[in-house]
Amino acid sequence: ITLNVDMKNSIAKIQPTMYGIFFEDINFAADGGLYAEMIKNRSFEFEDPKMGWTEPNSEKYYMNTKSGFAHVTRYSGVNTNRNYVSIKVEDEQGYSLINEGFRGMGIKKGAHYNMSLYAAIGEGNISKIKIAFIDADGKDLGNTSISIRGSNWKKYDTVLTPTITEAKAKLSITFQGTGTVNLDMVSLFPEDTWKGRKYGMRKDLVKLLDDLDPGFLRFPGGCIVEGRTLAQRYQWKKTVGPLADRELLINRWNTEFAHRPAPDYFQSFGLGFFEYFQLAEDMEAEPLPILGCGIACQFNTGELVPLEDLDPYVQDALDLIEFANGDIDTPWGQVRNEMGHPEPFNMKYIGIGNEQWGSVYIERYKVFEKAIKAKYPNMIIVSGSGPAAEGDYFEYGWKELKKLNAEIVDEHFYSSPEWFRENAARYDTYDRNGPKVFAGEYAAQSVAITSPDNKNNWECALSEAAFMTGLERNADVVHLTSYAPLMAHSEGWQWTPDMIWFDNLESYGTPNYYVQKMFGTHRGTDVLSIQENGKPLTGQHDLYASATKDTDSREVLIKLVNTSDKDQTLNIDFKGQKLADSGRGLVLRANNLEEVNSFEFPKKISPQPSEVALRKNKTKVVLPAYTFMIIKAKME
Ligand code: AHR
Repeated sequence: ITLNVDMKNSIAKIQPTMYGIFFEDINFAADGGLYAEMIKNRSFEFEDPKMGWTEPNSEKYYMNTKSGFAHVTRYSGVNTNRNYVSIKVEDEQGYSLINEGFRGMGIKKGAHYNMSLYAAIGEGNISKIKIAFIDADGKDLGNTSISIRGSNWKKYDTVLTPTITEAKAKLSITFQGTGTVNLDMVSLFPEDTWKGRKYGMRKDLVKLLDDLDPGFLRFPGGCIVEGRTLAQRYQWKKTVGPLADRELLINRWNTEFAHRPAPDYFQSFGLGFFEYFQLAEDMEAEPLPILGCGIACQFNTGELVPLEDLDPYVQDALDLIEFANGDIDTPWGQVRNEMGHPEPFNMKYIGIGNEQWGSVYIERYKVFEKAIKAKYPNMIIVSGSGPAAEGDYFEYGWKELKKLNAEIVDEHFYSSPEWFRENAARYDTYDRNGPKVFAGEYAAQSVAITSPDNKNNWECALSEAAFMTGLERNADVVHLTSYAPLMAHSEGWQWTPDMIWFDNLESYGTPNYYVQKMFGTHRGTDVLSIQENGKPLTGQHDLYASATKDTDSREVLIKLVNTSDKDQTLNIDFKGQKLADSGRGLVLRANNLEEVNSFEFPKKISPQPSEVALRKNKTKVVLPAYTFMIIKAKME
């Protein structure tokens, strides 16, 4: 098989946003995941305010059983959050409250953990609180204590250093003396967060994201944007400002509509819109917030805001742009400034609605579009067409959005690996004059969409690589793409497959992660033609290919995917530019299609470097069965 690469003519420019990431707080991706807070229900705001907390009366950890009790008091804790806990200690034996963390707390020997809490003493003589990591048997794994004083709310800080590494630690808080004391915002973070930020993010997880070199960060979802009901939609304004003021919300994935509902899933919004913008900035990715458009999640109630009542929703969008980009003397620019970021975030994109469709969506989209463009004509608006299954709504959405000259349409694919292989030519026939595409959520499903048995196996990842050659060849139409969902806690997930898996100590990238990484870090600036007998490879001989060049690094980048069970020999003939006599390869493959990465073997399927011999602008490559390979060569 001979492939011809034309290096002279650029077919299309590749957008810097071509490969990005889609973050949604599903599978405990934010609280219990990226957001490094280790205390579950730190401010006693869950529906059951003591969820996550146990008392000695109901636990075996402490000898005494009757020395005190906690009750939750409403409406006067720290700042505007509603609850605080009142502890009454009745005898000197000591009384403890224990937090279980997010399915345990992962602690590392010798590392430092920043602990803080707000306390106000009532009556009696409690003046000391002992804080300790404990194991399942109540054994002390490292402790410290804080002295408290005064009846006014005060913040206290201390540092804990575990004596061992333990994946399932808990935190106990023991009061010495008798009397009453009130507590709120009990918080524990590893000191070693991403960029060392206090109340920051898990370093290992952000590193995995950063290593993808993402072109954009889409947030905060996904279905959670819309909410189960309109009242429970994601409201960005409630996620900024002081931590204790951020009003907690039940997570949309804490529901009977989730495949594995998690009753303890709430959004603390410690990871809020400011933090998302900051994360995007850290990764040099374009921030791409998606806002609700006045329709609750279609898979839940689908509740609608009457058009005449849409104003507050539209105002949220306008205010968000001001929050991200406005001068510090504008009301929302000032909020950003007070949070420590006087410079604008330079937001260029805003998404309106997630997976909504039909005339109800279009009617609402029009109102947003008019208002946003009137005030911010350069803001690029991402609209949505819903999941790209066979449904008529999808066709309808596209037709209407085309009429409106929509700029970018978000379409989603969750389908079988075969579907991905068969759709590598999907965008070859898209209208070159219509809206651009944001392939905003896609993932091959090894069993069936939303099946809890789906695996991140090699067949799925390889099929996505085949599909992605089609995205890349059509970079004139496809401007943004992202795999979904992004992350999952191995003990707390609602949806599988997911690109990154983690527990409280470890994390790893799936084969799908490495496919994304290989594309994202070998993007190139221009699409080139790569053809066999005058045609692109979109599955003939079970082969797929795309070619790009990077005009900055002066490299040509060839992506080849062999989905067959046989090794295949390819002769590649480069024309139009002289190449160096040797190139480099990066090979991603597995021994069989069922193979996966795991906590035990996190890099079983990961890119391996190889040498590629080039002679007189030609090379011969043996592409092993079931392989994704990138070839790089310098243009002289
Ligand atoms: O990625 C999981 C869910 O799939 C998203 O929340 C939603 O947009 C889609 O249906």
